[in-house]
Amino acid sequence: MTLPVRAIGTPLDRFDGPAKVTGTARYAFEHPVDRPAYLFPVQATVAVGRIVAVHTEPASREPGVLAVLTPENAPRVASFDDPEVVILQNHEVAYRGQFVAAAVAETSEAARRAAELVRVDYQAGPHDVELRADHPDRYAPEVMNGGFATDSLRGNPEAALADAAVRLDATYTTPWYQHAQLEPHSTIARWADGRLTLHVASQGVHRLRESLATLFGLDPERIRVISPHVGGAFGGKLHTHPDVVLAVLGALAVPGRPVKLALTRQQMFSQVGYRTPTVQRVRLGAGPDGRLVAVSHEVVQQTARHKEFAEQTATPTRVMYAAPHRSTTHRLVRLDVPVPTIMRAPGKTPGMYALESAMDEMAIACGQDPVEFRIANEPPLDPELDRPFSTRNLVGCLRDGARRFGWAGRDPTPGVRRAAGGWLVGTGVAASMYPVYRLPGSSATIRLEPDGRYTVSIGAADLGTGTWTALTQVAADALGVLVDRIVLRIGDTDLPAAMAAGGSSGMTSWGSAVVEAAGRLRARLAAEQHDPVPADGIEASAEMPPNPHREHFSMYAFGAQFAEVRVHEATGEVRVPRLLGVFAAGRIINPKTGRSQLLGGMTMGLSMALHERCVLDPRFGHVVNHDLAEYHIATNADVGRVEVHTLVEDDPYVNPMGSKGIGELGIVGTAAAIANAVQHATGVRVRDLPITPDRFFVGATSVRG
Ligand code: MOS
Repeated sequence: MTLPVRAIGTPLDRFDGPAKVTGTARYAFEHPVDRPAYLFPVQATVAVGRIVAVHTEPASREPGVLAVLTPENAPRVASFDDPEVVILQNHEVAYRGQFVAAAVAETSEAARRAAELVRVDYQAGPHDVELRADHPDRYAPEVMNGGFATDSLRGNPEAALADAAVRLDATYTTPWYQHAQLEPHSTIARWADGRLTLHVASQGVHRLRESLATLFGLDPERIRVISPHVGGAFGGKLHTHPDVVLAVLGALAVPGRPVKLALTRQQMFSQVGYRTPTVQRVRLGAGPDGRLVAVSHEVVQQTARHKEFAEQTATPTRVMYAAPHRSTTHRLVRLDVPVPTIMRAPGKTPGMYALESAMDEMAIACGQDPVEFRIANEPPLDPELDRPFSTRNLVGCLRDGARRFGWAGRDPTPGVRRAAGGWLVGTGVAASMYPVYRLPGSSATIRLEPDGRYTVSIGAADLGTGTWTALTQVAADALGVLVDRIVLRIGDTDLPAAMAAGGSSGMTSWGSAVVEAAGRLRARLAAEQHDPVPADGIEASAEMPPNPHREHFSMYAFGAQFAEVRVHEATGEVRVPRLLGVFAAGRIINPKTGRSQLLGGMTMGLSMALHERCVLDPRFGHVVNHDLAEYHIATNADVGRVEVHTLVEDDPYVNPMGSKGIGELGIVGTAAAIANAVQHATGVRVRDLPITPDRFFVGATSVRG
């Protein structure tokens, strides 16, 4: 293969691809270790209560059992700051499925058998697991995830709404979505000589080390976390969840033995976080010309009683469209459930489903084309902060997408186009957006080796996203060499500390640090004589430098998604033969892996629109469809043609690469584009996801929270 001189912008194949397809890329559970022991958890069978007794005798007598951990005998933690991971430390049960005991044994079969023999007596208390928009205990959290303000208010939206020539007042709901990565959450933990070594599927090794150091009162230097390959994360492997902690408790109980824990799919439904269900009231007011005068977005969603997580659902409404009068609010209800967490584009994904559905409804109410209606309400500045966007190419995405999709001449009349076989056909559009986050705390070291290669070391993560390849490309360009001269090392706390992969900020944070370190090394090599290069190489290190432009600009990636749907008039089945997305996300470092990110996001958005929903049993407080047979995720058969396009966008302000995050952008807006197309096909506006066949029939009941 001839390597390109400029690596950034080249669609290189994944460097880790051959190792992955030959099975030699090791995921956490697969690391070879000496004399592994296996852990199997025991989960609470009540949603609220007190553990009265744990009977371990039969389990302990099972052949091969090394330890049975209970709240009485489990190793103690040092910090109680994060109640989600304080497990086996007291007798309280906070949600059904919580870990209350565990068995460690010579084989996974023996561990599972022993765990099944542990009997726990509870004194159950009354529980409340049902989210309702009018729940009497709803409250305003102090701050939303990501540091966003809980509420925002500008002008007088109530008065402006009352006076508006055209008004929309609609409530949208999204269900509880479960994290369902292909690789289940897995850990190998070993405690020996006062040191803890972990192989774990993690979005950030240093972040995980820090949280475990705090929880167990250990010097971080005594913990090593290794995670070179992760089989999907989506936010579910960012925060520390109880599974890693349980593996560490197991390791502490059998010193010297590596303890392996891989959650079963069913265990994941209570252990690794989920996207909160939402109830969202959106009100829009427009003048007779179709210009928005008021925007209001009120969100009610859930959190866990034992720990708060506040999803920033209304925040996209703060930046999407111009309107002088604006309000957004978030309210939470504490329930006896597992802790919700971030999931691919937290807040933006459910929030943009509601806002972009409402924009479609409003365009129809104003008699305007939904593409033109959005363009007419494009804000000249960030409408909340009154400052310019570093780049904002939503209009370009809408226009380019409309052209590619064949939007021109679309008859807005719903329910009039048909395809053979009883299918109603419709098309819809929605916008995408995602902030350019930048998280401090990343550093990189680059060493020129005697053989002329450069070792680039940074504690970054590859979640399956393409970091191994794209970060190598960034380093090659920064050093002015071909990619085959770069040896990248990531996913290990022995490497320079780096921020976790979250908020689509990885490339911005790690790339900025790598570019800075490369600049220092090049300066050193230019200033000093190094011929030959000494055996231990020549190196330079750097932290991600501050970005002075951030105070002056709002930084976002945008996109436009177009959907064609077919709804069967007899059965209500919905098919999506075509999705088309156009995205403006700065420079695309690797168009091949980048396309995969956007395509994957759109596919997850399709899955959200049509399939995914956790069904809770309010009597017991658990998700009943807790496996991949009943929690349906879009498969190949559900996905038609998906086209991904990107606009050339030159943003000199975001970071030295000119790139914006693309891991999350693709899921934002897909569900609204599909729901809008469904309305166009059928005349039925579905405001409650997922869009299942029953939504189209008279007498269908909504599952409003
Ligand atoms: Mo992403 S949901 O911020 O890991």
